[in-house]
Amino acid sequence: MHIEIKQITAQETYNLRHEVMWPDKPLDFVKLDNDEEGIHFGLLKNNAIVAVVSLFVEGNKAQFRKLATKTSEQGKGYATRLLRYLTNYVVAKGHVNWLWCNARADKTGFYKNFGMIETDQTFQKGGLDYCIMEKKLTI
Ligand SMILES: CC(C)(COP(=O)(O)OP(=O)(O)OC[C@H]1O[C@@H](n2cnc3c(N)ncnc32)[C@H](O)[C@@H]1OP(=O)(O)O)[C@@H](O)C(=O)NCCC(=O)NCCS
Repeated sequence: MHIEIKQITAQETYNLRHEVMWPDKPLDFVKLDNDEEGIHFGLLKNNAIVAVVSLFVEGNKAQFRKLATKTSEQGKGYATRLLRYLTNYVVAKGHVNWLWCNARADKTGFYKNFGMIETDQTFQKGGLDYCIMEKKLTI
């Protein structure tokens, strides 16, 4: 089995975002207005994309969005590997010292395992509860 993480296009994230995160919505629902400004990463298993995440850097802050692992491939550490890769990528930029995300409320446990901390900022969107989580990076 060959696993690699590499940069992919926004277009290449859409199917997985759709299938895993919002299967009941039209495909366009998973496209972000600023997708073209993002940096997109995929984890490929034998050349097939099985996990995706998108990164948006603004000043010293990096937000990641739309982390999704194909349902049949969850629980194998792939999302954690993608987040580790993304973290190394932003740290290497040298000026980014905060990583943050809008976490689905039922996924905060997963992000805590990754060292992220819940802020007191919460909101609802698309019928789901979210919490903003963040992590200070050592650069
Ligand atoms: C959240 C998600 C990206 C995790 O992907 P994954 O590839 O299965 O994650 P990993 O295998 O790296 O990590 C799994 C670990 O986190 C734990 N975990 C997963 N979901 C969890 C949760 N909701 N709460 C607490 N722990 C969780 C697993 O038990 C496992 O722990 P272990 O390493 O001790 O066994 C995946 O479940 C997913 O795509 N979900 C649907 C889309 C989604 O909700 N995306 C996130 C939006 S904020």
